[in-house]
Amino acid sequence: MASKPLSPFTTLTLDLLLILLSLLSYPTSSESHNHTNSSSSPFKFLDHLNGSHKGDHIEGIHDLKLYLEKFGYISYDGQDRNHTHADDDDFDDVLESAVKDYQHYYHLRATGILDGKTVSKMMTPRCGVADHIGVQKSITVTKRITFMESLTILSSGASKKWPRSKYHLTYGFAPGTPSEAMTPADIKISFEYGDGSSFDGPGGILAHAYSPTHGNFHYDADEPWSVGALEGYYDLETVALHEIGHLLGLAHSSVEGAIMYPYISSGVTKLDLHHDDIHGIRALYES
Ligand SMILES: *[C@@H]1O[C@H](CO)[C@@H](O)[C@H](O)[C@H]1NC(C)=O
Ligand SMILES: *[C@@H]1O[C@H](CO)[C@@H](O)[C@H](O)[C@H]1NC(C)=O
Ligand SMILES: *[C@@H]1O[C@H](CO)[C@@H](O)[C@H](O)[C@H]1NC(C)=O
Ligand SMILES: *[C@@H]1O[C@H](CO)[C@@H](O)[C@H](O)[C@H]1NC(C)=O
Ligand SMILES: [Zn+2]
Ligand SMILES: [Zn+2]
Repeated sequence: MASKPLSPFTTLTLDLLLILLSLLSYPTSSESHNHTNSSSSPFKFLDHLNGSHKGDHIEGIHDLKLYLEKFGYISYDGQDRNHTHADDDDFDDVLESAVKDYQHYYHLRATGILDGKTVSKMMTPRCGVADHIGVQKSITVTKRITFMESLTILSSGASKKWPRSKYHLTYGFAPGTPSEAMTPADIKISFEYGDGSSFDGPGGILAHAYSPTHGNFHYDADEPWSVGALEGYYDLETVALHEIGHLLGLAHSSVEGAIMYPYISSGVTKLDLHHDDIHGIRALYES
């Protein structure tokens, strides 16, 4: 029987999902505290910036700059942050241009104005991996390897994939997760609190994972997790499928139906591979 190079994605995800299901002592029904309080989301600051545009000076704009920097739409690396206005509240040219790029990526009207639709999209919980690899906004880039940067570097070239000798990936849960440690493994899954500056408490960033052949996959332990669609909770399997995409070498997709789309709401599941995902994994592993 001819074997298709698609096998890593399908067998791995099935195995992982089965393990996740059996392992987790996470809720499948509501618990005492209500996690749907969006007023405490780390992306809540965006609400206040609704309607802002170039020329504005509003408290919180520096957080918008950080947001767009974190997700790959601006790079101030190697710059004097005072000189580039990286940390001030001026809605400047660089920010306007980054907002346009963001809007373009998410198929919003690329006006550079932070309109209601842009704000709503930005406020949705998401994966912590950056959307963009080579940041065009960069003025000059010098090496300052931060965690996020190492993630984006790792997910850059199309050559980042598991070698043929590693198509049978093993996985394990790092100590601290509700299971026995099963290391060493190719893929290491854990629930992390804080995780440097990457995780941000309830809401905001939900999870992240590295590209091949690093193998780390972290869930934000501060999120309300569930197995299945449950109001106010994030579905572990849906997020796992997305992060496994990164583990196998896929970057983000701006196709909303794709597993590799970065944003996910609570109370929903998305478990079917979109042809965009399949196209991505084929392009990577059939080359
Ligand atoms: C949580 O609170 C919100 C708003 O107060 C409410 O609409 C929602 O039903 C609550 N969810 C749960 C699971 O209690
Ligand atoms: C939501 O969180 C905010 C800030 O932590 C708090 O002031 C507010 O009372 C909370 N709302 C609900 C419905 O729990
Ligand atoms: C940036 O500005 C702040 C506040 O004005 C100042 O304290 C800091 O020394 C400046 N940093 C640089 C690198 O110029
Ligand atoms: C942004 O402002 C517009 C117009 O005032 C309003 O209709 C919309 O609901 C707001 N959106 C958000 C996400 O706050
Ligand atoms: Zn992602
Ligand atoms: Zn991490």
